[in-house]
Amino acid sequence: MTVREILHVGNPLLRERSREVTREELASPAMQALIDDLVDTMHAANGAGIAAPQIGETVRIATIEVTHNPRYPYKPPIPLTVVVNPVIEPLDDEMVEVNEGCLSVPNMRGNVMRHVNVRVRYLDRDGVEHDEVRRGLTAGTFQHECDHLDGLLFLDRVHDTRSLTTWEQFERFHRDEFVRRITEFVERVGS
Ligand code: NI
Repeated sequence: MTVREILHVGNPLLRERSREVTREELASPAMQALIDDLVDTMHAANGAGIAAPQIGETVRIATIEVTHNPRYPYKPPIPLTVVVNPVIEPLDDEMVEVNEGCLSVPNMRGNVMRHVNVRVRYLDRDGVEHDEVRRGLTAGTFQHECDHLDGLLFLDRVHDTRSLTTWEQFERFHRDEFVRRITEFVERVGS
């Protein structure tokens, strides 16, 4: 078990396009250890997800898990999911405005638009192919992590920079309204 250092915005590795992982590489002890490190680091930081470039490894791997997350208490649960070489495809034009944060952008949150209904194809850590539909905030979490693999941060998608807040000011001035709106959305969309 290794909790790795999380890179912060400004580190050039966060801006690279990460490379695909071959099946042979995925099966290697080194890549399996990297996946373990991602899970450990995500847990230690209370992240809803983390992508390999965030710990300095520019390969297309991310982990996602939501279980009563103190950073995002309104997010529906997602069991631990390891995605390798993920491809995301919007299923329609429906979008939702989500307030996001990121382990690589310390003490900052902002509003971004995310697709509500997406198809996600990926390999799991055993190399098994998955082809799933993800909806709602869960779809948003997948989009956030996959953005990291293309060198994008949520900051790049903030359409109104006036929505940027520290975590403390979010709690103080914006949390209640956002949680009210997003809870209605989660109840309507179901995830
Ligand atoms: Ni992030």
